[in-house]
Amino acid sequence: MMRVTVFGGGYVGLVTGACLAQVGHDVVCADIDADKVAQLNNGVSPIFEPGLDAYLQGGLRQNQLRFTDDMAAAVAHGDVQFIAVGTPANEDGSADVHSVLQVASTIGRYLDHPAVVVTKSTVPVGTADRVRAALQASFAKRAVNPDAEVACNPEFLKEGSAIHDFMKPDRIVVGTESPRVEQLMRELYAPFNRNHERLMVMDVRSAELTKYAANAMLATKISFINEIDNVAD
Ligand SMILES: NC(=O)c1ccc[n+]([C@@H]2O[C@H](COP(=O)([O-])OP(=O)(O)OC[C@H]3O[C@@H](n4cnc5c(N)ncnc54)[C@H](O)[C@@H]3O)[C@@H](O)[C@H]2O)c1
Repeated sequence: MMRVTVFGGGYVGLVTGACLAQVGHDVVCADIDADKVAQLNNGVSPIFEPGLDAYLQGGLRQNQLRFTDDMAAAVAHGDVQFIAVGTPANEDGSADVHSVLQVASTIGRYLDHPAVVVTKSTVPVGTADRVRAALQASFAKRAVNPDAEVACNPEFLKEGSAIHDFMKPDRIVVGTESPRVEQLMRELYAPFNRNHERLMVMDVRSAELTKYAANAMLATKISFINEIDNVAD
């Protein structure tokens, strides 16, 4: 069992938190939306995903899953801290990572124990470096230097089958150059990796790129299918 904090209680954060709690981890999920936090603590999910309500309510009942908007308490909890906040598209199509960096600053403001900070949001190559810089800037302001490593673990779940995709992943991509972080992520994901080796470990930038490559592949496949459909019509 590991202590995990997930920042963002949206699609990806909520599913990640609920599934990690379901396999026995001790999860705190933090969101800035106080109404959403209150609703979730009452076992009411803002999204519909098959299987999610049962995991949410089971996690709350067993006290394996809690929701909060108290960021200091959230940072104090996790040995692993996932950043799973939104990255909406800017006008030019690039991803707006300001919420991701805001969470990194928040972690830096309160972190007092060794932790791995893991980006799960879909972020451009190089974002982990910016997360590391935001953490370091916050540490410097407090004149502290806790052991905080940054890793990347992009999410491939699809809306509509999110719980299934998370519980039975085709692949788990982990970007880290640290053997200690790799070991920690292997422990975290061991329950999802029992029968087949699903974990693919690579450097951080490769992990960031993998998500974009997968999205591009998916978009290409859909375009081809649509074209073939048009030809067939
Ligand atoms: N939805 C999907 O199918 C999917 C799949 C794979 C990857 N992703 C990626 O995962 C990331 C999250 O997507 P999503 O669909 O879960 O977004 P979402 O909009 O459903 O949820 C984002 C949540 O983050 C919260 N938030 C914003 N700023 C915060 C902060 N500073 N601290 C704490 N919480 C904060 C919001 O209140 C919201 O509840 C994005 O990068 C997205 O591209 C999404």
